[in-house]
Amino acid sequence: MSLDLQKRAAAAMAVEMVEPGMIVGLGTGSTASHAIRLLGEKYRAGFRFTGVPTSLASAELARGYGIPLIDSPSAKEIDLTIDGADEIGAADLSLIKGMGGALLWEKIVASASRRVAIIADSSKLAPRLTGKVAIPVEVVRFGWEATSARIARLGCVPLLRHEPNGEPFRTDSGHYILHCRMDDLSDPAAVEHDLRAIVGVVETGLFIGLAHTALVAFAEEVRRYDAP
Ligand code: A5P
Repeated sequence: MSLDLQKRAAAAMAVEMVEPGMIVGLGTGSTASHAIRLLGEKYRAGFRFTGVPTSLASAELARGYGIPLIDSPSAKEIDLTIDGADEIGAADLSLIKGMGGALLWEKIVASASRRVAIIADSSKLAPRLTGKVAIPVEVVRFGWEATSARIARLGCVPLLRHEPNGEPFRTDSGHYILHCRMDDLSDPAAVEHDLRAIVGVVETGLFIGLAHTALVAFAEEVRRYDAP
């Protein structure tokens, strides 16, 4: 099975978890887009639910199917969020997310959700977070170089994310993203804490204790992992 078919298989299993009338967080990225398309097809066939998008891109995709959207999470809990990840630590379902540049909205939606199901192909799975994947860190544009210098003291070389045209990438909230490959990621919660303590850091792509389930597609099957 190709990687793309694996992503679709994981998405299809997550979509089975959606019940009529649910409020569903709609993730961002190529894997989450499979889930939105599958949900969109169900919506067109009469299956009713409401979506909460994690990016402008996912909102646009969902709107194309006519899925009704709540543009911003409200006090009402989201029943289930389906989203992708860049790395999944199988032991505790800690995640690195945000290579799609949507980590802030993704984390707000995940935090407002009763359940979070992560979907991925098997290339994203590791026993624990490895540190090989750079952590995207969303920072305020004002003073970003000073913020970057302080992040570097934690043990990484932050790299500013750019658009293909060479301009700095801006998130849907207008911030910059720094990619930080940490020298030591043996304690992701401590790294998350230290990063968030830096003035100018808006949010990090470390998602600790947020995922309940990961549906990971291998060549032959989709395997389910539940948080301890
Ligand atoms: C988006 O900001 C990310 O968190 C994505 O969920 C993550 O990058 C996975 O993307 P793919 O499914 O495209 O690999």
